[in-house]
Amino acid sequence: MASAELTKKDILHYLRFLRNAGFLYLTPTKGGPTESAHARAEQLEALKLAVAKCTQCRLCEGRTHVVFGEGNPDADLMFVGEGPGAEEDRLGRPFVGRSGKLLDQMIERVGLKREDVFIGNVVKCRPPDNRDPELDEMETCEPFLKSQIALIQPRVIVALGRFAAHRLTGEKTPIGRMRGHFYSYADVKLMPTLHPAAVLRNMNQLQDVIHDLERAVAEIQRD
Ligand code: URA
Repeated sequence: MASAELTKKDILHYLRFLRNAGFLYLTPTKGGPTESAHARAEQLEALKLAVAKCTQCRLCEGRTHVVFGEGNPDADLMFVGEGPGAEEDRLGRPFVGRSGKLLDQMIERVGLKREDVFIGNVVKCRPPDNRDPELDEMETCEPFLKSQIALIQPRVIVALGRFAAHRLTGEKTPIGRMRGHFYSYADVKLMPTLHPAAVLRNMNQLQDVIHDLERAVAEIQRD
């Protein structure tokens, strides 16, 4: 997905989803995502309620909770991971297992707190046995991620690992080569970096990730 533009297919897909979730009509809002942070936060909450009922792909069958994502709805920095693991599925919250503990430490190392940022995922339901998300699952979930980004309006997105980096940029380059270089997702700067789970497997990579996050933070602090 190289563009934040909602295509006709996205819109039809989302409208069909809303109808299946029981929304037979939509109340028009006064403005679009350019509205106030308060209005955007309310729309994000409404989206969360809608996504909680999603049954559009097979991942709904094995889930305990939909993991919508959490954090500051007006965050300058947004993290996008791959998909929930066992602990996230159990609690309905992103990055709360081992990878999440490391992500929290990384966020603090660069001078931020978890509450300052928004943390989401490419797919919102846990793939069974932590397998990789399938292409059609990512495609089905994509309008939700697009809407989250459109509503939060982050200044920088940090893509954690290859799934998020490839999905959001349309690139196929190995994550080890992408990391540390800014890309863009529509008008939003995007920094790909290694997934915390990969860092847990090789802690020598931690400093690279901290470096990437420092660059992302410097970017949100510019002017
Ligand atoms: N890994 C992810 O990619 N996302 C989570 O929420 C947890 C682990």
